[in-house]
Amino acid sequence: MDLYKQALRPFLFSGLNADPEAVHRQFMRTCDWANERCDRNPVATGLQRWQTSCSIFDPRLTQTLWGLEFANPLGLAAGFDKDGVATNLWPSFGFGFAEIGTVTFHAQPGNPKPRLFRLPQDQAAINRMGFNNLGAAQMAAKLSAAQAHRAAHRHPLGINLGKSKITPLEQAADDYLGSFRLLKDYGDYFVVNVSSPNTPGLRSLQAVEQLEPILAALQNENAEQKPLLVKIAPDLAWEDLDAIANLALTYKLAGIIATNTTIQRQGLQTQRLSATGNAPDQEAGGLSGRPVRQRSTEVIHYLWQQTQGTLPIIGVGGIFTGADAWEKLTAGASLLQVYTGWTYEGPWMVRTILSELLDSLEQATLPCLSAAIGLAHSAQKT
Ligand SMILES: Cc1cc2nc3c(=O)[nH]c(=O)nc-3n(C[C@H](O)[C@H](O)[C@H](O)COP(=O)(O)O)c2cc1C
Repeated sequence: MDLYKQALRPFLFSGLNADPEAVHRQFMRTCDWANERCDRNPVATGLQRWQTSCSIFDPRLTQTLWGLEFANPLGLAAGFDKDGVATNLWPSFGFGFAEIGTVTFHAQPGNPKPRLFRLPQDQAAINRMGFNNLGAAQMAAKLSAAQAHRAAHRHPLGINLGKSKITPLEQAADDYLGSFRLLKDYGDYFVVNVSSPNTPGLRSLQAVEQLEPILAALQNENAEQKPLLVKIAPDLAWEDLDAIANLALTYKLAGIIATNTTIQRQGLQTQRLSATGNAPDQEAGGLSGRPVRQRSTEVIHYLWQQTQGTLPIIGVGGIFTGADAWEKLTAGASLLQVYTGWTYEGPWMVRTILSELLDSLEQATLPCLSAAIGLAHSAQKT
């Protein structure tokens, strides 16, 4: 019996917990508390047990990318741990890596509430959080303090950077640069997020002329050559994807994260959102979960094809099962991330997906996961 789906989820999703953001906030508070005590008993022993129950260790799942060692390909997507308060805990939930943020240079409260909605019939969510976060300086302080409690060998940590709402679009490069300067020592890789639908004008930064100065500024500051990626929206046209892929090659980006949430609303089953009673298409924000799965995979497939697999892709959007994960890997993703699926499926989802990926490897008679990356393309050719 899956305790989360049978008992905890019905409670967390019930009228008693109608505000998903409040549930999330409470969870993160608990994580913050445990993060500061993760090297002391009883928290340390509890986390070790938790890790055994949530993860699978198998050499076939490991990968070295950008000089970083990933114990498995499944990471926590940006937006869950916006202030980086639980960086020492994510391995205990089975993740192979975690991406914190989006963090902005200036602390900001985000959009008015309610701003996060569940769409249970669609196994989806709509959010218009608007980069609520405590700012880059606060995150740097948190990460510095967390280092003292960290295991010597930890899994890779990504930091996702966004533009502060008060900064005009023309000064975006300085804003991203300010955050990068404060945080560059703490992250293993960095992400330029230009794809959230919830900061006015942000997605226009995906246009090459606007993205170029941001990437140039960051790479100029990036003496240690930390991997720098860009995270894109699923709503871009093919020619925009081509332009971004070219730019990624020009600026020696380490890869692309595909994709963020979508502004599309087609084919939804959920009639009304419980928080407002509105239909989903009346609520502004980005849609995540099952409805974004197919488009996100198409984007991964296209990017891999256009770059002939030379540019690593982190695939994210609508992953719930091992089959969803396999589909994205074989489309061309080297690593994967989950957010919405994890909130629906619960803490054992990572283990289930990893175990299903191992089954898929055996069925395909492949020696390791890296051999599956982009496999759909060679299957197409034969
Ligand atoms: C509540 C919520 C907040 C999010 N916040 C961020 C964010 O701050 N930065 C970001 O890059 N992506 C953010 N995302 C997008 C996710 O990282 C992910 O790209 C997207 O949800 C698709 O994956 P999923 O279907 O597994 O959720 C957020 C998603 C949700 C549901």
